[in-house]
Amino acid sequence: MTRRKYVVGNWKMNGLKSALGEARSIFAAADAHPGVDVALCPPFTLIGAMAATAPGKAVGGQDCHSAASGAFTGSVAAPMLADAGASLVIVGHSERREGFGERDADIRAKAQAALAAGLSVILCVGEPQGVRESGGAIAYVLAQVEGSVPDSFDPQRFAIAYEPIWAIGTGLVPTVADVAAMHGAIRGALRERFGDAAESIRILYGGSVNGDNAAELLGAGDVDGALVGGASLTAAKFVPIIAAAAGL
Ligand code: 13P
Repeated sequence: MTRRKYVVGNWKMNGLKSALGEARSIFAAADAHPGVDVALCPPFTLIGAMAATAPGKAVGGQDCHSAASGAFTGSVAAPMLADAGASLVIVGHSERREGFGERDADIRAKAQAALAAGLSVILCVGEPQGVRESGGAIAYVLAQVEGSVPDSFDPQRFAIAYEPIWAIGTGLVPTVADVAAMHGAIRGALRERFGDAAESIRILYGGSVNGDNAAELLGAGDVDGALVGGASLTAAKFVPIIAAAAGL
């Protein structure tokens, strides 16, 4: 089973209209690497404009509500993302789990809402530093997978991102062996639950990925791409990661 490499930029709460040129440059450079799927997830406010300025490119949200509409002040529903031009959404990022109290059941409901709205999903999991140090990282992450991954979906439209919390924005990265072990464990759990369909689900690594470490991390077993924060904000930093994925 060959899974296409998938490199996704999560702009987090960064980006004004003046950043749209950067997105255009990223997508234009990505055209040189047709073997890699590339997506950008800007803040809600830029989704419509980014989708309009880069027709046919994959633009996504960073979160969605689990309801399709209703009295939820400040929230954005999955059908609204699709209506604005998004084709995917990230759910369960650790900054949502930790900063906004999202639990596995919430994330599962968000993923189901996104799939129902026709979006692809990237569902994030990852352990805090203390759990890694105590040797419990794999059990912790597999419990997140068990609790937050929906029971049925098109595997082509569903990816998991393993993002160890202590590696996000810190410059720290796990060893390649630890990444391969985690991704292998996630793949094994998916296989037990979904059988052969598990082979089509892409598992991305995220946490301090940059142009220098991307080839090594993306070359590890069962790593199908990267979810990139800081280094996705400019073409100068993001395009080398895309190129590294293309070279694998
Ligand atoms: P950094 O690449 O900035 O470490 O962020 C990773 C991340 O959280 C992507 O979702």
